[in-house]
Amino acid sequence: MFNFSSGGDEGVFLPEREEAYFSGFARMFKISNIDRYFLPTQKGSMPIPVLKNYKKGLDRIAKDPRRVFLEKTEVTREKIAKGYGARADEIAISRNTTDAISQVLYGIDWRRDEEILCSTLEYPNCIATIRRVACRFGLTIRQFGVPSRHDTHAEEIVESARRGIVPGKTKVMFFSAPAQPNGMMLPFRRLARLAQHYGIITVVDGAHYGGMFNPRLDDTGIDFWGISGYKWQCGPGGTGILYVRNALLESNNTPLPRFNLVRSADLHAPIDGSRPLDFDIGAALSHYGFPESADLRALGEACEIWDRAGRARIERYILWLADYAREKLVAVFGEHALLQACKDEELKSGLVAFNPFPEKEQRRDLQLAHRFNARLSRKYGYRLGYGGIGLNGFTRDPEPDAGRFYEGCVPNRNALTNEPEPEDIPFRFGTPVWINRKDIDRFIKACRKTLDSVA
Ligand SMILES: Cc1ncc(COP(=O)(O)O)c(C=O)c1O
Repeated sequence: MFNFSSGGDEGVFLPEREEAYFSGFARMFKISNIDRYFLPTQKGSMPIPVLKNYKKGLDRIAKDPRRVFLEKTEVTREKIAKGYGARADEIAISRNTTDAISQVLYGIDWRRDEEILCSTLEYPNCIATIRRVACRFGLTIRQFGVPSRHDTHAEEIVESARRGIVPGKTKVMFFSAPAQPNGMMLPFRRLARLAQHYGIITVVDGAHYGGMFNPRLDDTGIDFWGISGYKWQCGPGGTGILYVRNALLESNNTPLPRFNLVRSADLHAPIDGSRPLDFDIGAALSHYGFPESADLRALGEACEIWDRAGRARIERYILWLADYAREKLVAVFGEHALLQACKDEELKSGLVAFNPFPEKEQRRDLQLAHRFNARLSRKYGYRLGYGGIGLNGFTRDPEPDAGRFYEGCVPNRNALTNEPEPEDIPFRFGTPVWINRKDIDRFIKACRKTLDSVA
C-alpha cells in the first residue's frame, strides 16, 4: 500500500517531495471530499488498515463476547508510549481529553483555599470541569492573559503566568497546548520550568497535541497531559491518552504529586493518593471494566502508523502548511485577518485562527459569523470551527468583568493588568496531513467569495 520508507524524516525540507509523500499517505483515509476536510481539530478518521482491523476486531468480539480483550492493554500502552516519548507506566488509556482532564483534576490532592491558575484560552469542557472542581474543593480560579499579537514572543506568556502565581497558594497551573480558540501553541516547556520553580503541578490539555506534534512527553517537564486519540492522531472515537509523570525526570525532578485514582478497578493500588516507587499508575488508570477493546487496539495501531510515517516529518509538514495558510490569508485579507502570534516559532501550531472581515464591528458580529460559516459550508463544502467561549468562559455573570466580554469573543485578558481584553470572533481550521497547498489556495478563494457575498 503506502511506501512509508520514502525518506525525508531528517535533513532539508523539500516542499514538493513532502507533498508527494503526504498525498500518498492521504490515500490511507476514506474521508469523502478529503481535500476540503480541515477539521482534525474536531475529529480525524482512522487510516484504512486500522479501520479494517478494527472492524474485524468488532466482529470477533461480537461472535465471542467473553473474549473482551483483543490485545492486552499493556501492549497498547507500550505502543503509545513508544511514539509519545514516555514509559508505559506513565500512559493510561482514557475515553478522550475531557475524560483524562477530569480524572486528573478530580484526582489532585486539593486543600481548601488553594488556587488553580488557568490561561484565558481554555476549552469549554475543561472550563466546566475546573469550575466544578473549584466549587467542590473551595478553590480560587485565577486567570492569566495570553498575548496574541503577531509578534508576541513566548517569554511574554511566561511572564503573564508568573504574575498570576500566588506562592504557597497556587497548586496547579492549567493550560492548553495548543489552545483551541486561537490555535496558539503555549510555551509548555517554559511554563513547566516556571511551575516547577514554585512547586506547582502542571496539567495540560493536549487535545490537539498528539498526532500534530512529535511528542516527547518525558522531555516536556509537564506532570499531566490529556490527549485526544481521535483528533489529529486519527484513532477511533472514544479513545484518549492520559500521561502521568511517574518518576523524577531530567526535565522535572520535583517530587511526584499525590494523586487519587478517581476511576480504577485496581484492588492493589494505593488508596491514599501516594505513589510508591514501582507503582504502575498507567496500568491502574487503564483498568476500569470491560472496554470495547477493538477501540483500544485501533488507537495503538493508529499510533504505530504515525510512528512509521515519522512523527517529526508529520509535525514539520503540518506546521509548514499552516505557515503557508497564514501567509495566504494575510495576502488576501490583510494583516488584521490573522488572530494569532505568527513570528515566534514556539507559539505556532497547525491550527489557524482568522477573521476575514475588514471592519472591527464586523469581526465582532456573531450573526455575520454565522452567515459566513453557513454559506462557506453550503456553497463550498468547508466546515470551520468558529467563535470563542465568550460569556460562558471563566468570567461570567454576575461577575462585574463579564459585561466587558461579548458573545463569540475570545475572552482574553491583558497580560500586565489582567483587565478583560476580548478578541475578535475566530474562524478556525487545521492543516492535517491529507491536504496540500492547492487545497489551501482553493479554500481561501472560497473564503474570499463568501466574504464578498455576505459582507
Ligand atoms: C483544546 C481542547 N480541549 C479539549 C477538547 C475536547 O476533546 P475530547 O473530545 O478529546 O474530549 C477539545 C475539542 O475540540 C479541544 O479543542
